[in-house]
Amino acid sequence: MVNLSVQLAPSHPKGLLLANPVMTASGTFGYGIEYSELIDIQRLGAIVCKGTTLKSREGNPQPRLVETASGILNSIGLENIGVEAVIREKAPIWAKWEVPVIANIAGETIDEYKEVALRLESTPGISGIEVNISCPNVASGGMEFGTNPKSAAEVTKVVKSASSLPVLIKLSPNVTDIREIASAVCEAGADAITLVNTLRGMAIDINRYQPSLGNTVGGLSGPAIKPIALYMVYKVAGIVNVPIIGCGSINCAEDALEFLMAGASAVQVGTANLTSPQAALDVLDGIEQFMKKENMKDLKAIVGKARG
Ligand SMILES: Cc1cc2nc3c(=O)[nH]c(=O)nc-3n(C[C@H](O)[C@H](O)[C@H](O)COP(=O)(O)O)c2cc1C
Repeated sequence: MVNLSVQLAPSHPKGLLLANPVMTASGTFGYGIEYSELIDIQRLGAIVCKGTTLKSREGNPQPRLVETASGILNSIGLENIGVEAVIREKAPIWAKWEVPVIANIAGETIDEYKEVALRLESTPGISGIEVNISCPNVASGGMEFGTNPKSAAEVTKVVKSASSLPVLIKLSPNVTDIREIASAVCEAGADAITLVNTLRGMAIDINRYQPSLGNTVGGLSGPAIKPIALYMVYKVAGIVNVPIIGCGSINCAEDALEFLMAGASAVQVGTANLTSPQAALDVLDGIEQFMKKENMKDLKAIVGKARG
């Protein structure tokens, strides 16, 4: 037997104990309910739901997804059903699941983040909150908060004071020095950090003489961003004391192991879910096989192993 469990909020009174380190990334796994018909979602470490805002949002104009040489650009623009519908329609289903569900939240103002966190308070079926301060394709809010240490800390403080749940802060890679933002949110009370959201990018449709995305700008995910995400995890792991959740083109167990060895305590599978619903479970099985092959009994033996 190998121990794959991981505590993502060790200093929080409620804690956030995962049976294993493999989570699904926000926006790539719907509300989990869609995928529950395709795979055994209860085997996952945790599910992070689509970004949720105070009011429902229609998102950005089409086209909103474009393939690039090694990844995709998306400009969904946080289309979602809004927090009240999540509480009414999704959370009662999550409450019956064994797998913890983490609500990913976003807002255009700091007050909106607070309000969403307050509404989720005491909702059965939600085990934690992941705060998206890193969305690169909305007109206001989102990434603006995550690229400035002061506002990143402010959002963290506000959500922490509004919620009795563990709070994960999801950072943007679109910054000069990720360590500044990571330190700021940790000082403000983040229980864990998710690294990273998408990188800002664009593509041009030369036949239409126009940007390919309806929103012009989008977020790049997939294989192109893995080395950058990995580097950011490595850098931040050297300076913070809270668990880090690595995210950025984790397609197979080898990718996940790289992030764990760089210092991540858990990983999120994102774009890979769009090509294979089984991707996250394959990552999980591969980690377990690696540990058995290496005769490792506990996942903790891998975390940070490449840090020297
Ligand atoms: C279609 C799509 C929608 C996304 N929606 C969200 C979202 O609502 N909230 C969020 O925090 N991240 C969102 N993300 C970012 C992913 O959760 C993840 O951080 C990013 O894609 C990098 O991981 P990957 O390369 O494995 O996809 C989205 C990504 C994609 C591709």
